Amino acid sequence: PTIYLKDYQPPVFGVSTIDLDIRIHETETLVVSTLEMQRLHAGELVLLGRDLELLNVQLNGSDLAPSSYSLDKETLTILNAPDQCTVKTEVRIHPENNTQLEGLYKSGGMYCTQNEPEGFRKITFFPDRPDVLAVYTTRLEADNQYPTLLANGNLIEAGQVGGDRHYTIWQDPTKKPSYLFACVAGDLAVLKDSFTTMEGKPVALEIYTEEKDIEKCHVAMQALKDSMLWDEEHYGRAYDLDNYMIVAVSQFNMGAMENKGLNIFNTSCVLSSPETSTDASNFYVKSTIAHEYFHNWTGNRITCRDWFQLCLKEGFTVFRDQSFSDTLQSPAVQRIDDVSSLKSAQFAEDAGPLSHPPRPDHFVEINNFYTATVYDKGAEIVRMMATLLGEENFRLGTDEYFRRHDGEAVTVEDLIGSLSDGSGTDLWNFLPWYSQPGTPVVTGQGIYDAETRRYTLTLSQSIPKKPNYPAPQPLPIPVKIALFNQQTGQPLLLDAQGETETVLMLNQSKQVFVFEHISSQPIVSLLRDFSAPVLLNFDYQDQELAFLMQYETNGFNQWQAAQQLLERILLQGHDASAYLEALLVTLPKVASVDPLLASRLLDIPTETFIASRIDSNYDPVAVRSTRETLMNAIAAELKDFWSASYAALPIVPYADTSEAMGQRALRNAVLAFASRAGVADALTHASQQYDAAVCMTERLGALRQLVNYDAVDHDAKLADFYQRFENEALAIDLWFGLQASKPNATIGEITRLSQHPQFDLNTPNRVRSITGNFATNPVAVWTTEGAQFYVNLAKTLDAKNPILGSRILQVLSRWYTLKEPLRTQVKAVIDGLQGQVTSSSVVETLANLQKAG
Ligand code: ARG
Ligand code: ZN
Repeated sequence: PTIYLKDYQPPVFGVSTIDLDIRIHETETLVVSTLEMQRLHAGELVLLGRDLELLNVQLNGSDLAPSSYSLDKETLTILNAPDQCTVKTEVRIHPENNTQLEGLYKSGGMYCTQNEPEGFRKITFFPDRPDVLAVYTTRLEADNQYPTLLANGNLIEAGQVGGDRHYTIWQDPTKKPSYLFACVAGDLAVLKDSFTTMEGKPVALEIYTEEKDIEKCHVAMQALKDSMLWDEEHYGRAYDLDNYMIVAVSQFNMGAMENKGLNIFNTSCVLSSPETSTDASNFYVKSTIAHEYFHNWTGNRITCRDWFQLCLKEGFTVFRDQSFSDTLQSPAVQRIDDVSSLKSAQFAEDAGPLSHPPRPDHFVEINNFYTATVYDKGAEIVRMMATLLGEENFRLGTDEYFRRHDGEAVTVEDLIGSLSDGSGTDLWNFLPWYSQPGTPVVTGQGIYDAETRRYTLTLSQSIPKKPNYPAPQPLPIPVKIALFNQQTGQPLLLDAQGETETVLMLNQSKQVFVFEHISSQPIVSLLRDFSAPVLLNFDYQDQELAFLMQYETNGFNQWQAAQQLLERILLQGHDASAYLEALLVTLPKVASVDPLLASRLLDIPTETFIASRIDSNYDPVAVRSTRETLMNAIAAELKDFWSASYAALPIVPYADTSEAMGQRALRNAVLAFASRAGVADALTHASQQYDAAVCMTERLGALRQLVNYDAVDHDAKLADFYQRFENEALAIDLWFGLQASKPNATIGEITRLSQHPQFDLNTPNRVRSITGNFATNPVAVWTTEGAQFYVNLAKTLDAKNPILGSRILQVLSRWYTLKEPLRTQVKAVIDGLQGQVTSSSVVETLANLQKAG
């Protein structure tokens, strides 16, 4: 059934406390829960439950006869419940068979939970919705072979039960919604540390993982302490409990989960070591630790009223983790990385059949809405408001949000209201950003009049009209700009204070902005720092973009100018010469001062991104060939630079700093172009780099070139890699991923990889290592066999793990843009899934795919 935001009803009963008693056995788990309930509104007392075997139900201490309640697949209704009552249920569940990784499940040898959004109803009967906040006491009992028994809050009791079982009792003093409940039973090692908050409160920090991985937890621990301090300094938010625990699990559908005081993390987002993790994954560990920590205030203490408001906690928290990450690498590179993923994931999503507003107004399966739009466009909206307010006023606004709503379950309106009132600036015109789907297009034109020394900038916006949504309204779009003197390359002063940058607010369909006292035809640099999540369409000459590549002082816009030029070359058939000339002079300069930024200047839009901009007659082979031609031209044009700079970037001892990261990133990018250019010895260098590598970034970067260019020793090196890391699951994921992302991988090779003994459908990381990486190869994906590969997996996962199955199917969402006869062929493959799947996640995604076109 479809659920609508407009149908929201407050809960009929509240729950003040819940006592859980969870007894884990090898072949079953028994859960007794006791709820103290109070009527809030007229209506029936309905508890939600799924896949639970109800053993007993009591009301106020007496067993209920079946005539006093009604039970169906999703609900347990207590008939004629009094206004105050104690409801006690006992259920049997089977975490040992739970492959969906939702509720309580077994991962490897341990038990853990994932309850967001609606997993708690798979553990016990409860009003499982985020606006019911309760105090939890949890008793957890298991065999002694699971010595670690954790739940949210403080440990208040522990003991033996007979000879071979034991228990712990935990109490969480803060009220929380059920999706933040967590518990863990396992045999885990722990890394301990501590942090003293600005309020002087000591907090015990603990990271739990398998013994063999414990040394890989130091990066996460440091990131946790850094995040705790950062939130104090930037938002005035201190941690509230006495302990903060993180548990690493290897089978997990998402990155991590912010359960109150007991985060559960995908191993890929918590374990890090130079030998086994790339710089990218090491970075991702830090930013995910920050993300989940920041949820403690934006998500947990202030939570969402209903799941339509998901972007309230996710958008704000992503914005916060992105800001934190500015301290880990330069803000320019951070912005480049965030914007490239926004453009490749969110813009693409918004251009397809799964397009939806950051706050959807209806859904069938909420699990399908943990999307780039909710997370990343959600973050962009908060960023725009922060840009408009400036640091100080934004802080006044967030202070007001925390002051007003601590302990509440709220809506997007509550955030906008607090930011407006706290800052004294009315931000209500941003509300439509949350409810309108589609990427706005900003079109601009600049005219200089030498006589009046006036520069006139005309900006207009258009928002794509989407089926089933009302005609779009103009949005407030902050456009951060600078003007440059073409002769000197210097930015112009825009006011008497010497400012060289200003934010124009485009609020209407079309607006004119006038700049006076401009002595010569300037070059405008638009949308600095990507001040709004829009597509920009300015009537630049290619030469002007090439100028900005060289002279922009804003690193992000230097990159953006390059990207705009590249998009023209790749999508509109422009000649590459202006870009190549600019790159030739700019790259060596940037490389000598900021290797990390230089490595990003070598980003070439991916085939998937290019495809997201082509709405019909898309020919994957033609896109590949255009892009290859460009890459070859870049490789050839800068041949001398590759040789010189590779030699200037020797392998040095590992350091986890942005400088060292920059050198490694640039060296790998240079090695890739050198290999492409056929620079003499490039593959020999790659082979040597593989052998001499002091860290995974170096080893994997080298191996990638050996594999992509079929170097003589590529099989030997692949085998060596496998042997070295056989027992390191995350490194083996990289091994699968590298082969799956090989540009000329055939479906036969992909199928063979998926038949490898280490491929495992129960481990999402392993599945994604193939499906996610193979998706970067549209030439092979968009074939009957390629599409069939995804469809088959979605079908297999439909029962086993529908959340994952649905994600995998989404790879095919833009089938309707393909040129014929591919379009018809792929559609037939997708239609073959009809009637073959039953989970709401996969069924909803399939229906959306079929509707398209
Ligand atoms: N709240 C988590 C995070 O973003 C993600 C949980 C998503 N879970 C899911 N089943 N979709 O930090
Ligand atoms: Zn989150």
